[in-house]
Amino acid sequence: MTRAWNNPLRDPRDKRLPRIAGPSSLVIFGVTGDLARKKLMPAIYDLAHRGLLPAGFSLVGFARRDWEHQDFGELVHDSVKEHARTPFKESVWNRLAEGIRFVQGTFDDDDAFDRLAQTVKDLDAERGTGGNTAFYLSIPPSAFPVVTKQLARSGLADASDDTWRRVVIEKPFGRDLKSAKELNEIVNDVFPEESVFRIDHYLGKETVQNLLALRFANQLFEPIWNANYVDHVQITMAEDIGLGGRAGYYDGIGAARDVIQNHLLQLLALTAMEEPVSFAPRALRAEKVKVLSATKPLGPLDETTARGQYAGGWQGGMKVPGLLQEGGFAKDSTTETYAAVTLEVQNRRWAGVPFYLRTGKRLGRRVTEIAVVFKRAPHLPFDSTSTEELGQNALVIRVQPDEGITLRFGSKVPGTTMEVRDVTMDFGYGHAFTESSPEAYERLILDVLLGEPSLFPVNEEVELSWEILDPILAHWAKKGAPEAYPPGSWGPPSADEMLERTGRNWRRP
Ligand code: BG6
Repeated sequence: MTRAWNNPLRDPRDKRLPRIAGPSSLVIFGVTGDLARKKLMPAIYDLAHRGLLPAGFSLVGFARRDWEHQDFGELVHDSVKEHARTPFKESVWNRLAEGIRFVQGTFDDDDAFDRLAQTVKDLDAERGTGGNTAFYLSIPPSAFPVVTKQLARSGLADASDDTWRRVVIEKPFGRDLKSAKELNEIVNDVFPEESVFRIDHYLGKETVQNLLALRFANQLFEPIWNANYVDHVQITMAEDIGLGGRAGYYDGIGAARDVIQNHLLQLLALTAMEEPVSFAPRALRAEKVKVLSATKPLGPLDETTARGQYAGGWQGGMKVPGLLQEGGFAKDSTTETYAAVTLEVQNRRWAGVPFYLRTGKRLGRRVTEIAVVFKRAPHLPFDSTSTEELGQNALVIRVQPDEGITLRFGSKVPGTTMEVRDVTMDFGYGHAFTESSPEAYERLILDVLLGEPSLFPVNEEVELSWEILDPILAHWAKKGAPEAYPPGSWGPPSADEMLERTGRNWRRP
């Protein structure tokens, strides 16, 4: 029998074959940051462990520290040991370590970037990277202009006919529409749009990609996925952790800019968009752009939005500080750590269906989910007492943790009377599949090296998301401090009132 991998007649698009990156290297700016240590370097090791990186793959760190190659190697080693998903194996590590280099310098240092250019060249000669290089800017956006200029000046941004150069950028993509446009111009001045990979790591999550499978590979759901059957949609990203240590990034940014502008609006787009013609990047992005263009805040904003800031108190048996007591935050900071908004998608499919998006820190538990809540049956041929405990049908996509899908519906309680109560039917990844899910960053870094852009939002999506959020942020800016909420709770009372006013309630996942 001819095996799939050596069968010359195999379909080159066969998705069961592993996708292995071609010759390439990755340069990371901001290697000492949290993201690089906890997510990026471990993900690179995991890719190496899974055999998805090319033989001569090389990793270059660029930072101010006075380090030798081996000092950077140690940092990578320690972060891999602590945070990698797959087990640590000396042989995998040794192979990866051979391609680790460090370039010392500051962002305004021409010589350092010239040395970086030389390093990239040497790696091609020594390890056959083909000169193909991705630059990962894991740095604050204020540093984008100087770094992209340096990449252009030193020739590092120049691709040739047979080599590629790509830039990977992390949010925040600006703090409003205006600054996002400025940022995009700065980056596009140096890199053409098709070489820019904007990371929204939620799109790298298996459960988020599964939304597309759920909606478009099945017959069951799509016919009821519209305003005729859906009452409303709740998209929740709750975290139980606080913001200790993150003041530099978070103060003045807040929950809406940090999470709603990107992760939650991307989840909304995938939930609400029309079926793409194919999963080709252009087709998928076209549908997301279309649905985001139709998405608007629903007012009056005093009633349809809520924001809060966590106070100090007890959570899980521990005394925790409020935001204003966390190191680095201004003592009178009005930064919100909880945000909830009501949006509507103004098209035929969704007219009149509110989309409620909420996110917060120091809430009851860590959970991200999309709940599609259906209308009640138009008629119930039971005594009213039989259905007192019957809620609304709901389909809940559990993004994390405990990844899976839950369907809630009414069922007869066993016994001699007719009593109907809600029950759930569950699909759990952990039970249905033996493979464990890769981390979002594994998928996304691999896609960058493969030049596969489907899971990266385009410029237009970023700008449309700011257009949706800007009026809400402007409204909040005119108000004083956000309402305080106790740690471990589900947000400020105004968030509950926001839904109660419409006769609905937030889910308590
Ligand atoms: C980041 C936000 O994008 O996502 C953080 O900046 C948040 O504030 C994080 O904690 C959550 O990511 P995940 O994958 O743990 O849900």
